[in-house]
Amino acid sequence: MNLPFSESYKIKMVEPIRRSTREQREQWIKDARFNLFNLRSDQVFIDLLTDSGTGAMSQMQWSEMMLGDESYAGASSYYKLKNAIAEITGFPYFLPTHQGRAAENVLFSTMIKAGDIVPGNSHFDTTKGHIEFRKAHAVDCTIDEAFNTTLDHPFKGDVDLNKLEGVLKSYPVSQIPLIIMTVTCNSSGGQPVSMKNLRDVKQLANQYDIPVFFDSARFAENAYFIKIREEGYGDKSIREIVREMFSYADGMTMSSKKDAIVNMGGFIGFNSKALFNQATTYNILFEGYISYGGMSGRDMNALAQGLYEGTEFDYLETRIKQVAYLGQQLKDYGIPIQYPFGGHAIFVDAKRFLPQLPKEGYVAQTLAVELYIEGGVRGVEIGTLLADRDPETGLNRYPDLELLRLAIPRRVYTNNHMDYVAASLMNVYDRRHEIMSGLKVTREAPILRHFTVELEKA
Ligand code: F0G
Repeated sequence: MNLPFSESYKIKMVEPIRRSTREQREQWIKDARFNLFNLRSDQVFIDLLTDSGTGAMSQMQWSEMMLGDESYAGASSYYKLKNAIAEITGFPYFLPTHQGRAAENVLFSTMIKAGDIVPGNSHFDTTKGHIEFRKAHAVDCTIDEAFNTTLDHPFKGDVDLNKLEGVLKSYPVSQIPLIIMTVTCNSSGGQPVSMKNLRDVKQLANQYDIPVFFDSARFAENAYFIKIREEGYGDKSIREIVREMFSYADGMTMSSKKDAIVNMGGFIGFNSKALFNQATTYNILFEGYISYGGMSGRDMNALAQGLYEGTEFDYLETRIKQVAYLGQQLKDYGIPIQYPFGGHAIFVDAKRFLPQLPKEGYVAQTLAVELYIEGGVRGVEIGTLLADRDPETGLNRYPDLELLRLAIPRRVYTNNHMDYVAASLMNVYDRRHEIMSGLKVTREAPILRHFTVELEKA
């Protein structure tokens, strides 16, 4: 008999989670104004809100915590992290930040001014938020295939080079400070970008002398997909693939809470010393001195170790196969999801799940609420709420995809938990025709509203 696939780790420490009743959950979600961010974590049984900062650190990472050097300047932990970043990504200069959006804040303060155009594949919401906060514009150049959830395209994170060139031709170069490639592309469903596309984008950008930065939160998962799906990479190691990916970038922002498997942290990597010097001023202003910038020494140690572990093939295979394990069950049941399965999450196509609801009814949020009531499983809306209103017209933006994301924390849940999640969603699918009304907003913030929005039944 062939031996079955099995996890590349065993469990040394456990954290209890609690079941609840449907009646309790109905009350709790009402009290939370139908916003799952407002739930207390002990009101949630399986928490798939995010894979960000929710992973389990390894025994090596915990040991590194004990070795942290908390010196204000020149700490050994800073140099440990600097070496790990240089070795894994190839960037000689870096600035630590407390998380990914802080890296965006520092970098964009240096590079982006009002009226600028920032093309890329579907920008993540904080990235877009930081661009629009500066009165600049994010232009999505993702391939059209990404917006058809039924298509099984291997690299739905790719940029359409014609769309990108169209943008580069339409504006003076002085108005396009950078191109941002998000690897993997969270907003289009945790979908990877091919090496070929990264190479082509860089080549095109070079013709216009525009720098390319990677939003790298899930760069290692992207490398795994390149290894598995792209011709010519099957025999390369994840680290070799990662180095080649970053060779097509001038710099990177990183939310270390994802592929570096730490609970908090981020950084910016640069090739250019001049840009690093400029960004340093903002880093000191917003984050802290350059050798810690928002992180403690112990956290930098754990992050350095996490960068090595996060780029090991066995770890990545365990992780991505668990996501696919959940995806396969939903697929077999006929539940509409984004294909192929994402690296960090399964994205349920809420418009096809609940076609009877009007787009004004916040369809994916409605589905997220139903799943919570069904099984105490918390996912997150990646749809109209997340898309915010158009800053110029004030009107709701209705994105092509209205998704419920089930993000799987790293090394946290077992496949029994995945079975439970799948069964909960199947139960909602069985009673989908009974869900006749959506939600309406009663209070919202002007930007990044999904975190604090309040809703009621429409
Ligand atoms: N870029 C991407 C692609 C992200 O997914 C995130 C965060 C960020 C940047 C910002 O990083 O949270 O460390 O400030 N994504 C989380 C998520 C929040 O749930 O997908 P951060």
